[in-house]
Amino acid sequence: MHTIAQQLDSALEKAASEAKKESLQTLFDANPERVNTFQCHGAGLSLDYSKQRLNDAHRKLLIELGTAAALGTRFEALVHGETVNITEQRPALHTLLRGTAGDKSPERYSEVTSALALMQQLVTDIHSGDRRGFTGQPFTDVVNIGIGGSDLGPRMVSRALWTKTPKLQAHFVANVDPQDLDETLHDLDPATTLFIVCSKSFTTEETLSNALRARDWLLNAGAAQSDVAQHVVAVTTNLEAAGEFGIDTEQCYPMWDWVGGRYSVWSAIGLVLALNLGWDAFTEFLEGGHAMDSHTLDAPVAENLPMTLALLEWWNTLYIGTETHLVLPYAQRLSAFTDFLQQLTMESNGKSATVEGQPIKKPTAPVLWGSAGTIGQHSYYQLLHQGNREFSADLILPLTNGDVDTDAHRKLAANALAQSRAFMIGRNEQEARALAESRGQDQLMAAHYGMSGNHPHSLITFNAVTPKTLGALIAAYEHKTFFLGALFNLNPFDQWGVELGKVIGRQIDKVLASGDGLEALDPSTAKAIEAWRAANA
Ligand code: F6P
Repeated sequence: MHTIAQQLDSALEKAASEAKKESLQTLFDANPERVNTFQCHGAGLSLDYSKQRLNDAHRKLLIELGTAAALGTRFEALVHGETVNITEQRPALHTLLRGTAGDKSPERYSEVTSALALMQQLVTDIHSGDRRGFTGQPFTDVVNIGIGGSDLGPRMVSRALWTKTPKLQAHFVANVDPQDLDETLHDLDPATTLFIVCSKSFTTEETLSNALRARDWLLNAGAAQSDVAQHVVAVTTNLEAAGEFGIDTEQCYPMWDWVGGRYSVWSAIGLVLALNLGWDAFTEFLEGGHAMDSHTLDAPVAENLPMTLALLEWWNTLYIGTETHLVLPYAQRLSAFTDFLQQLTMESNGKSATVEGQPIKKPTAPVLWGSAGTIGQHSYYQLLHQGNREFSADLILPLTNGDVDTDAHRKLAANALAQSRAFMIGRNEQEARALAESRGQDQLMAAHYGMSGNHPHSLITFNAVTPKTLGALIAAYEHKTFFLGALFNLNPFDQWGVELGKVIGRQIDKVLASGDGLEALDPSTAKAIEAWRAANA
């Protein structure tokens, strides 16, 4: 926990004990102007946090925390390329990828603009038909092969910006399960399919396995070995490994170790988006991220949208005592947004040591989950309303969606706002009894109708999902994640916790293949290996 956060800890504890006694309705009754105060606006987004469980004094305390923790100064350090990734001794310059503070990192910014030029040239060559497949036909489909930050961001953005008239159809393969690639390739034509092998490290087993199988697919369809270069490009920092794999350097698009994988959609990892949607869409996407960077640099804590998101999560997680955080986008376009946020937030802040190596004993990143509304209402909202679980939530509601059916789109908005109101008011005992009576039921039923309500949540609105607003929204959550990591005094840019599984995975793969070495494993693992080998004999 940041030193300032420790100093304010007792004040926050006291404030929270007060806040937990006040219903959201009481807060509105006490201050009708509340809805206008508990707002932030930036880069086309609006945040209404008036349904969060804090009063004016508590809000001022959080602002004091954000100010005293120097969140603004820390963000400037990030944007200016300082070594904020402490354990890997690197900057974290995802902001530079969208042109923010290029003057502060001129050499790196020159690399960024050169990479963008290379990307744009490929996009032009392919969209114009100057670059074609091995039979001379233009490309129609692009398959992105990657996982984690090399998949979730581009997959989500492509989904969000879906259009009836894509430049190329985009497909995404991530799982090492051959079913993923096989299903994707089933309907594609090798002659008109381009592959982008995305791997910052170029050592990720899933991606290399899928890339080898994709290459075989091309060769089995009649492509010569020399044709492969026409159909396969790579995005990586590891040119040597890509070369060993058989992808020559001019088919490699650079990314850098000063960009984290889960923060990399703005880099050449986003190449699939430019091919799918067009170069203009990709540059507008970058502009949206840049706009949120500018807002975050310029806005004081009290008006700073990402800082407010972080301070609210700090308050809810450590003081109100919420167990999980839901992100509920009421837009089918954003149906992959929560999946993307899971890696961004939980791989960034799901840590247990401070940057100084001290143990963090409190819970750090909350479990983030959710899905596009209204789907979850017919799945897990029952638990939200009556499951005795403390949660916080961000409801995201784009106000328009182009020329869709107005009635149906209005129903979507009605559900979003209804759920927000239900999270707030619940159904108290008197109302539950009245409902049972109105149905001529025994008062026992009242116990089944009650709902606590008072679930803290925010509403994020913007006009429509566009490349620009989507860029701003993603950047807002990137910065929220950074600020939350700052408050926890942890490093949000490394991921040491994912290594153990990979090491053991390589060991077990050998035992599965050979059957040797079972005795070194626990009996449960050994038994499962024997079962797998028997089933695949
Ligand atoms: O194992 C986790 C991780 O390293 C993520 O941080 C990363 O986004 C993903 O794997 C893919 O890594 P790469 O882009 O190097 O293949």
